[in-house]
Amino acid sequence: MQRPAANSFTIISMFVSFVSLIFSTSISFTTAFDSPYKLSKISTNGVVLPLHLRENSMKSRFNIDDHSLVLARLARDKARLQQLTSSSSSSPSSAYSTIVKVFSGEYVVLMNVGDPPLQLDLLIDTTSSFTWWQCQPCEICYKQPLPNPIYDPRNSSTFRQVDCRAQYSSECDHTQPVIEGCYSRSDMRCRYRNTYESGFITEGTMGTEILADFYHQNITNSLTFGCGTKNVGGTHEFADASGILGFFPGRYSFPNLVHCNSSFSFCFPGYYDGGKGQLYLNITTTTRVVARLLLGYMKSFGLYYLAFNGIEMDGFTIPIPPEFWQTDGKGNGGVIIDMATIITKLPEKAYAIFKDYFLKSTDKSVPVLPGEEGLDTCFNLTGLSDWKMQGHYFPEVKLVFQSRPDPLDISNEQMIMDMGNGKHCLAVAPGGPTTILGSWILQRTLVEFDLSNALLKFDPRSCDLPF
Ligand SMILES: *[C@@H]1O[C@H](CO)[C@@H](O)[C@H](O)[C@H]1NC(C)=O
Ligand SMILES: *[C@@H]1O[C@H](CO)[C@@H](O)[C@H](O)[C@H]1NC(C)=O
Ligand SMILES: *[C@@H]1O[C@H](CO)[C@@H](O)[C@H](O)[C@H]1NC(C)=O
Ligand SMILES: *[C@@H]1O[C@H](CO)[C@@H](O)[C@H](O)[C@H]1NC(C)=O
Ligand SMILES: *[C@@H]1O[C@H](CO)[C@@H](O)[C@H](O)[C@H]1NC(C)=O
Repeated sequence: MQRPAANSFTIISMFVSFVSLIFSTSISFTTAFDSPYKLSKISTNGVVLPLHLRENSMKSRFNIDDHSLVLARLARDKARLQQLTSSSSSSPSSAYSTIVKVFSGEYVVLMNVGDPPLQLDLLIDTTSSFTWWQCQPCEICYKQPLPNPIYDPRNSSTFRQVDCRAQYSSECDHTQPVIEGCYSRSDMRCRYRNTYESGFITEGTMGTEILADFYHQNITNSLTFGCGTKNVGGTHEFADASGILGFFPGRYSFPNLVHCNSSFSFCFPGYYDGGKGQLYLNITTTTRVVARLLLGYMKSFGLYYLAFNGIEMDGFTIPIPPEFWQTDGKGNGGVIIDMATIITKLPEKAYAIFKDYFLKSTDKSVPVLPGEEGLDTCFNLTGLSDWKMQGHYFPEVKLVFQSRPDPLDISNEQMIMDMGNGKHCLAVAPGGPTTILGSWILQRTLVEFDLSNALLKFDPRSCDLPF
């Protein structure tokens, strides 16, 4: 991406801040009278599945202290960034869809499969489009979370092996790069192989199963999935989940498999309340939510891009040149949403401006501390019990998207991460040319993917109760 020269940079910044100053003043006036966002169930076929932070189970199972949890979190985040940036630099090729991004993830969805039902916990990945879980008999399987045994198709009366000869059937679709087809003349199982950027490979056969929610209501009697008997390589980042649900559009993406590919929502719980969230299928929100456009043509890159206009701080748009939010259509630049990234990443120069304004607008009584683990804007909040109050010590931050004028309010808890011993750091950091909105900034938010209207809708809420 071409960076603007210093002169035009300043002119653009002044122009942007001037325009947005006028613009944002009128907006905050109108939104002040909005009632809390309401949600309604529009489909009788709607399904709700529980969702939780993967960290919760790590914490209870291994009895990790808070600081180690933060370090593990930041290490995961670093690995994710390396994987995302290594892939966005390569241009898409025919092999691209088999080499999907990564399978790391922050959130797990719980569901029942088979008869008798077995509970699976599967990682959400919005950058890949294949759905699989570990299967017995394992050639190589990683260790799974203790309460859940590895799924064994021989134990389930409802498992069905997919036949490789049904070449053009949707279940063994040979046009899909993940499908390898028949093993041999005598073995008619439909074979698949999916490789991730991290070096992880899952291999096995395609099968179908019944899928139910926790009221034992069937969601589908025939979910096509990869029954993974060889799952190996990479850094085993997801060893505390049974497999992956891919939410990027594709033949074997989860929304497509359960026939609700055009609308699904996640309510992401907060990192500190240890709360439960939800995955909603076939349930849409009302129009009162903040709605943002997805750039449909970017679909070939396996990432959800957003039309983004900038960041507001205390009511005015900080002067980050709009070039930083645009993509060249080849996978460089732009703004993506990625639930498996934790810390929000801005391009280096954009981050420098953001940090500068954030510090300038922070109350001078807040002690500043040195950075840690790639987070370079840190404070000692010991004794400042009211730091979460909006506009008290820290500036009020809002994200401004295209397509609707109302910006998305970001709370202090969505901006700042507790590092332990009173130390708190801005959960925003410099990254590559692509801006990534991560899970920290999306916590306590309902995010709806409305693909038929190319919209992403946000609704700040606690997720304590399903609606
Ligand atoms: C979603 O709705 C569609 C159309 O009404 C229906 O065919 C499908 O089975 C529903 N999916 C789920 C998971 O409820
Ligand atoms: C499958 O059945 C065997 C034998 O009945 C049992 O030991 C095992 O726990 C079962 N596994 C699962 C995943 O249900
Ligand atoms: C769910 O599907 C299974 C297997 O097809 C069937 O035995 C069961 O009755 C179904 N349950 C409901 C509530 O439809
Ligand atoms: C949803 O899936 C159907 C059938 O697989 C497909 O025709 C349609 O284009 C998909 N919609 C979106 C928004 O991906
Ligand atoms: C923050 O300040 C308190 C006292 O005000 C001190 O005890 C604590 O060690 C400080 N934390 C850090 C990380 O410096």
